[in-house]
Amino acid sequence: MHTKKIFSSSCPLKVSLIALFVVVLLSLWNTEAAVCAQVPKGDHGAAEMEYQKRLLDRLQRSVDVSKTPDGFDSVIWEAFIPQDNALTPERVSLGRKLYFDKRLSADGTVSCATCHDVTRGFTDQLTVSEGIKEQFGHRNAPTTLNVALLQTVFLDGRSPTLEHQAKLPITNPIEMGMPDGQAAVDAIKDDAEYQAAFQKAYRRQVNFDDIGRAIAAFERTLIFVDSPFRRFLNGDKNAISSEAHQGWKLFNEKGRCVTCHPMNPSNPLGTDNRFHNVGVSARHQDFDSLAKQGLKALEEDTSEQKLEELALATDMSELGRFLVTKNRSDIGAFRTPLILNIGITPPYMHDGTVETLWDVMDHYNKGGEANLFLDGGMEPLALTEDEINNIVAFLFSLTDDRFAGENQRQLERQKAQAEKKRPLKDDDMAFRIKIAFEK
Ligand code: HEC
Ligand code: HEC
Repeated sequence: MHTKKIFSSSCPLKVSLIALFVVVLLSLWNTEAAVCAQVPKGDHGAAEMEYQKRLLDRLQRSVDVSKTPDGFDSVIWEAFIPQDNALTPERVSLGRKLYFDKRLSADGTVSCATCHDVTRGFTDQLTVSEGIKEQFGHRNAPTTLNVALLQTVFLDGRSPTLEHQAKLPITNPIEMGMPDGQAAVDAIKDDAEYQAAFQKAYRRQVNFDDIGRAIAAFERTLIFVDSPFRRFLNGDKNAISSEAHQGWKLFNEKGRCVTCHPMNPSNPLGTDNRFHNVGVSARHQDFDSLAKQGLKALEEDTSEQKLEELALATDMSELGRFLVTKNRSDIGAFRTPLILNIGITPPYMHDGTVETLWDVMDHYNKGGEANLFLDGGMEPLALTEDEINNIVAFLFSLTDDRFAGENQRQLERQKAQAEKKRPLKDDDMAFRIKIAFEK
């Protein structure tokens, strides 16, 4: 079992101090929702970079990279950081600059923050992302919040580290579109500020590997885990509503969610770091012929670029983990996502086709979408409407308090939408009146 203890258990005094701190912060930030209404827009509909940076400054007032983040076990935290990229303030501030720099894209319109936008839970809140020249890929942008805690990176786990991952969007033709790493280096190497910053951070000239390292260092400061639910887990029984409390019980029992999304005081991330086919791609794919096409394409071209292209720019994207392992059992399988801050990162699932958390519940309630590769942990759940509402309330309690305003806005927006339409709802399947594969 992968029950790594990620968080150290905290003493009650610490909990109440944190709670007090949060209340003070909340009162400082309760205008967040109002501010969001007038976000200035830049390229591709993302919030303007300068605006995003200012918001990030407010969100991150007290980051001290020399310390283990509050509540984490220091040994585990250090194990997440590669030896050649120890966290230093110089590296983090260089990575922050790069994260927002559109010069790293071929036409100067796209940065990491275009698709992982600070004002939108570090996603773009689009079904699939838009890169240079208005090109759309096949996958939904996950959040860059808490990615420091992942064991593999990308939805199919095709990248082993944040350092490695950060270089790939820069050269991906439909994302930032640079022909190669050198082109990215050339785009910034004459900038005296960057020259000095690379020297300070890594004692080297501007180079592509250090671009990846610096961005990864910055991402390690995006730890946002201070949610009402975390306080509840740490012993504050009143931190969440009674609906959310009921939802938490259902999450562990009747809903069976915990089998793939483990959550407990020592590992409250909500992922088993494994890959499962929960049937999302089965709605519109013929896996058999796709798998054959995928194997053929990978045989002809074994490069990393080819895998990138298949994963993002072709129908074979839906094969998920299979493209990485070629294991039959990985067909249509994706990594169980972290479900922290889930309220503010719609739409959901690897292809962004599931619009609200009520729709997510409808998908699970009917046992996912029947297909030959469906994970054995998936079955009809027979959850009532009240039970669905309770699990949704629980899911909305997983958002860091610093995003409380956006979380509330999402809750209201998603609720209103779910009252109008529930495209995935199928009570006949959920209550086994109809059986999968039965005509
Ligand atoms: C055009 C939109 C776009 C841009 C630009 C972009 N990303 Fe992404 N990002 C995505 C999409 C889509 C995925 C999911 C791809 C997949 O998993 O196959 C993703 C996945 C990720 C992940 C993996 C998260 C996880 O849960 O595994 C990280 C980390 C990440 N991006 C960081 C970055 C960084 C750093 C940059 C800038 C160098 C960047 N992204 C640029 C759209 C984008
Ligand atoms: C068999 C393992 C499994 C079970 C059981 C399971 N999940 Fe998931 N969950 C996953 C995987 C894998 C994904 C990603 C699927 C994809 O993107 O195609 C996911 C995605 C999600 C997402 C969307 C995340 C995002 O960022 O888009 C939510 C929310 C979620 N699950 C909640 C739940 C809840 C609530 C339950 C219980 C009713 C549950 N899950 C049961 C494995 C599971």
